[in-house]
Formats: sequence, structure tokens, C-alpha cells
Amino acid sequence: MHHLSFLHLQCPLPILVLLLLSVSGTGAAIGDGQFIYDGFFGNDLTMDGEASVIDGLLRLTSGQAQFKGHAFYTYPLNFTSAVVPSSSSAPSFSTTFVFVIIGPYQDLSSHGLAFVLSSTKDFSSALPGQFMGLLNSNNNGNPSNRLLAIELDTILNTEFSDIDGNHIGIDVNSLVSMASRTAGYYTTDGEFHPLSLVSRKPMQVWVEYDSKHTRVNVTIAPYYLRSPKPKRPLLSVAYNLSSVLAATSTMYAGFSSANGILNCKHYIIGWSFKLDGEAAQLDYKTILGLAQKIEGRPSNYNYKTILCIVLLPTVTVAVVVCALLVKVHMKRRLQARKTELEWEREYGPPSFTHKDLLVATSGFKDEVLLGRGGFGSVYKGVLPVSKQAVAIKRVSPGSKQGMKEFLAEIVILGHLGHRNLVQLLGYCRHKQQLLLVYDYMPNGSLDCYLHNQDHSATNNRLCWAQRFRIIEGVASGLFYLHEHWEQVVIHRDIKTSNVLLDGEMNARLGDFGLARSHAHGADAHTTHMAGTWGYIAPEVARLGKATKATDVFAFGVLMMEVACARRPIIRADGEPVALADWVLAAWRRGSITDAIDPRLGDDYVEEEIELVLKLGLLCCHPSPNARPRMRLVMQYLQRDAALPTDLQPDTLLMISVEPLLQDEMQHAMSCPTTAITDLSRGR
Ligand SMILES: *[C@@H]1O[C@H](CO)[C@@H](O)[C@H](O)[C@H]1NC(C)=O
Ligand SMILES: *[C@@H]1O[C@H](CO)[C@@H](O)[C@H](O)[C@H]1NC(C)=O
Ligand SMILES: *[C@@H]1O[C@H](CO)[C@@H](O)[C@H](O)[C@H]1NC(C)=O
Repeated sequence: MHHLSFLHLQCPLPILVLLLLSVSGTGAAIGDGQFIYDGFFGNDLTMDGEASVIDGLLRLTSGQAQFKGHAFYTYPLNFTSAVVPSSSSAPSFSTTFVFVIIGPYQDLSSHGLAFVLSSTKDFSSALPGQFMGLLNSNNNGNPSNRLLAIELDTILNTEFSDIDGNHIGIDVNSLVSMASRTAGYYTTDGEFHPLSLVSRKPMQVWVEYDSKHTRVNVTIAPYYLRSPKPKRPLLSVAYNLSSVLAATSTMYAGFSSANGILNCKHYIIGWSFKLDGEAAQLDYKTILGLAQKIEGRPSNYNYKTILCIVLLPTVTVAVVVCALLVKVHMKRRLQARKTELEWEREYGPPSFTHKDLLVATSGFKDEVLLGRGGFGSVYKGVLPVSKQAVAIKRVSPGSKQGMKEFLAEIVILGHLGHRNLVQLLGYCRHKQQLLLVYDYMPNGSLDCYLHNQDHSATNNRLCWAQRFRIIEGVASGLFYLHEHWEQVVIHRDIKTSNVLLDGEMNARLGDFGLARSHAHGADAHTTHMAGTWGYIAPEVARLGKATKATDVFAFGVLMMEVACARRPIIRADGEPVALADWVLAAWRRGSITDAIDPRLGDDYVEEEIELVLKLGLLCCHPSPNARPRMRLVMQYLQRDAALPTDLQPDTLLMISVEPLLQDEMQHAMSCPTTAITDLSRGR
């Protein structure tokens, strides 16, 4: 057995040097397929990306956003025995390692790390973020990957069917785990103790595979408590790994990690591996000594302080202890402040300081207030150095919990980039406020153009070509959110005031995704169901659940609103009527184009406007299953598909707004600024 690196702190220096020298001399040999790292010094490791060895620690990511890092044991390992069922009772391979994750907050970090067995050490085409540096959207799930990963996943990604934001999963060739469980361990009396992967404390993981019973076991325990390996594994799954560890060739063992847009550091402190047997124990003292070196880790003062109080109950000692506690408290507060600052500085490329944003908006003056609504106030600003115009949204999530949810959400939304979405440039946190910085949209929001009361303002009028392009743009942005991006994002609040227009009058959707964490927003535009009255699909009111189909419903309303320049709820003969019903009535009378905006005159393409109105109706179908998906909507709009022939005025049901209305009219009364107030104007 080769001790490739042994660091005993109590070693006299010459012996240590000797040891290290002898290590570098034997580096190449694998021999019996085992190795042990009680701390890392870079020997026999192949690293890439952000990974480096520092102070005896293997740091996979160093806090840069959207980066990945890998470290592999340099030499291939012969897994033949793990493929051919062996008669021995020893595991076919086993490994154990100790890790620490330092996120920007005690309880938030992204995206985690993974122990990896792979046929290759080349992960250059893998993506960071939720792909954890393991795969990309093209090869995810491909059996030819020959990849086994034990993921320690700290963010919930619905696209990979994650169970939560703190789990351990067994991944075979795919980021959709073959099995996963919330992180934790079982005590000897069978009690389950959950563990937080991002707690910044060292934890130990064991992975074992037995080719005879084709079973993979994964176990985790807190390292700081000097816990022995729990008897009952967290995950014990029957799976024949032969297809991954194919008989003829060899595999590499190592680690992969990646950051999203948060500043997170992922460390491995010790690692031991063995083919055909139990991996050797790591040296507790050495590992814990190394763990203390990790910046940002809470120190172990608690245990000692409590001992002091118990064993030396004298006043003087108590005073000393108090002084110590105060000092530690101060240190902690300083540390908390430091991480907070660090985070503000490091989040997302690029990020902003509060001072920059104060300068940009001249101290959030009322003169630069663009509007209120959609979860907060929006200000126009000009960034001090780049002179770039930005829109700054000031959100007050209120509670600490709200802030956390909001941030987790933003971590995910930071990935989004599409020409029909308003780009989030970065954020800044200031006290209990969150400042989100977006691209500035010089032409404001779509509803101002459609519902401008001042008919003389001809320059504010949108011609049909522009309107049709806006509809296509919104559809394309929504399609991206629903189906094209790696993760499904339900917008939840599609409406004309959330569609912004850039310098070339291209539509860009704003405020996406935020509704999820802000369903209880105090904003008057937003109902308790999340969404805006008039755009809410009937089943949302009934079931309170937003889906892709409810977004499609709202988009249908929006399409008709653009063609007709009328609010989603209009007043006809003193009665409130849904715009869809109104369009449908025109169609039943024989001419659907009667419903269009009279200001268009004859500046429109008949075929297009009919398509928009009929498709709008189809999207507003009372039954969610009858509504087309955004992919199909795109095809209809691009004339790649024809509308269903049975879409006739008689086959569409009237959409009754009555049951909803009672409630919502009352809501409207108490919120004088909502869109519904337009009812009273009798447009
Ligand atoms: C792996 O080990 C087996 C025997 O255990 C041997 O037959 C085979 O040649 C080895 N493969 C490689 C690539 O070294
Ligand atoms: C995996 O766990 C099960 C259940 O505790 C145990 O019976 C089995 O021996 C374990 N296998 C290995 C390879 O550790
Ligand atoms: C696992 O699969 C391989 C190849 O498919 C097969 O040869 C082997 O017998 C299987 N192992 C067990 C224990 O079934």
C-alpha cells in the first residue's frame, strides 16, 4: 500500500520532508489500485478549471461565478473486478472523502460537487451551474458517457427532477439521478438526522459498490463529531454498474464541481480509494486540522467554551469566557458582514455596489422613478463608469425567509438570456432590500401604447406590423421560458404592462419567475393568486396552481389585447365582459375583424389579424388541455402550421367571468390603481 501523501502535523520537519520526497518518487505506481490523500499536495492529481491545491486542501471551485473545476487521480484504474461478479464479500470498490462547502450564506450555495468515475478526464465540454461540470444539455442521459457521479446537490433543479435543494444522488450517465435522498444519516437506533450540505462543516461521504449483489451504497456523516461510519447507508440501490465500468477498459476517479452565479467554494480535504476492498480510514486529526484552515468556516469554539463553564465554575473564568464569547461574537459578526460584502461584490457577472446604484439614480430620486408595480419600484439609472442606462428594481422581500427564497430564485433566473426577455444584469443587496439591475428599455411598456387615452399622440401609435412582431416576440420569449431553456419557468404574470419595448420596438418580457416567491406581494396589480385579474385562467382561480397552460391563457388575452387595444375586461352595456367573449361575439356575428382596434384603420393584414384573434381565443380555451403549447403557438404564428379546422365560433364555449367577478370586483374597489378601474371608464 502506498501512502501517496501523509501529513502528520506532529512530524518533525526532516521526516516530513523525507516522506514527501519518497512520495514524489513513487507517484506513478498504482499497484494494488488504492490511494489515500490525508490532505492534498498536488501529487498524482490532474486538475483543470478552477481546481487547485492550496494549503493541503483540494479546492475545486474558488468562488468565481459560472466556473467549473475537476480533479482526477492521474492514473487509470482497472475496474475489471467490479464488472465480473466476485465471490469475495469485500466491496468491488469503495471510496471515502471529506468535503466542505462554503456558500455565500450559511444556508445557500450553488451548485454542489460530485464524486466521479469516468472513462475520460476531459470535461471541457461540460457546463457549469446545474450541470455541475459533468455534462451538457446534448450529452445528458447518453449511455455512451460511461459516467457515475455521486452528486452532493445544493440547488433544486426541476429540469433534472431534483427532490430538493439539499440531496445526495446517484447519477448514471445523466444528471437526472437514478436515486436520491435528502442529505442525512441514520444513528445506530435507526433515527434519521438531516444534514445541511452547505453548513460549512466538514462531512464525510462513503461510496461502496459490490459487484456480486450489484449494489451501490452511499453514506454521509458529520465529520466534526468524529462520527464512525453509520451502519445504515443513506442510499442503498440495486444497480449493475457493468455498463458504466465496461469490462475492457479502465476508469478515472475524481471530483467535479461547478458554481452558478453565486460565489461558492467547494473543498475536498481528504480522500481514500480502494479497488476490491474497504477504502483506508482517513487520519482524523490531520483532516480536522486542515478543515480549520478553510476560510469562512465557523471555528470549534462552542465545545471548548461549554467545557470551560462546566469544569471551572469560578467567577474569573466566567469573566474570561464572557470576554471570549463577546470576542467570538464580534468575530462572527465581522465574518458575516465580510461574506455579505463578498457576496454583493461577487454575485453574477457583472455585479453592483449599492454606492454605484445610488450614484446611478441620484439617490433614487422621484424624478427617475419609472413606475411602481410588479413587486417593487423601478428607477432609471445610468451606471457611473460605463454610462450604460439601466432599470433598477427595488424589492423589499420583507422577511429573512422571503429574501432567501428570492435570492435562490434569482440564482436560477440569472442563467436566462434571450432576445425577447429583459436581461437581468446583476443585483445588489442593501439591508432588507434587493436591487435588481436590468437592461433599460427606452420605449417603456406595451400597455402604454395600447391604452393611451390621448388619441392625438400619433407617434405613440403602433402599426400592425409592429404589433404582429411584438406578439411574435412575446411568444418566442415565453416559448424559451417554457420549453427551450434547460428549466421550465412559468411566468405567472403575462400582461401588457410586463412587456417592455427596446429601442427597435422589439418586445421583451420582464418580471418572469419572480411571481413564484412573491405570490403574496402587496402590489395592487397582483392578486392573491399571483397573476393579474383578466389574465388569470379559470382553473387558477379554482385550483390556485399556475402551469404552462395558464401562461398560454394569459398570452391569448394579450394577443387579443394587442389586436383590439382593449383591456382584458371591458364593459359592454354596463356589464363586464371578458375580451375573449367580446371577440368571440364579433366572430359569431360574422366578422371577427369588427373587434380590432379602430385606430388601425385599414393598416393591417387581414390574414394575420384573424390568425391572432382566433389563436387568442384558442389560447383562452376554458379547458387547459385544449390550449396549444407555446411550441405550437409559434408554429401557428409563423404559418408553419394551420389552425385546427374545427376551431369555429360554435365550438368554442363562452368563457364565463361571473363566478370570479364577485370577489375580484371587491378587490378592485379597494385597489383604485388596478387595471379593472378601467371598467368604470366604460371603454
Ligand atoms: C485489468 O485487470 C485484468 C485482470 O484483473 C487484466 O486481465 C486486464 O488486462 C487489466 N486491464 C488493463 C487495461 O490493464
Ligand atoms: C450496502 O448496504 C446494505 C444495507 O445496509 C448492506 O447489507 C450491504 O452489505 C452494503 N453493501 C456494501 C457494498 O457495503
Ligand atoms: C451485470 O451485467 C453484466 C453485463 O450485462 C453481466 O455479465 C453480469 O452478470 C451482471 N451482474 C449480475 C450480478 O447480475
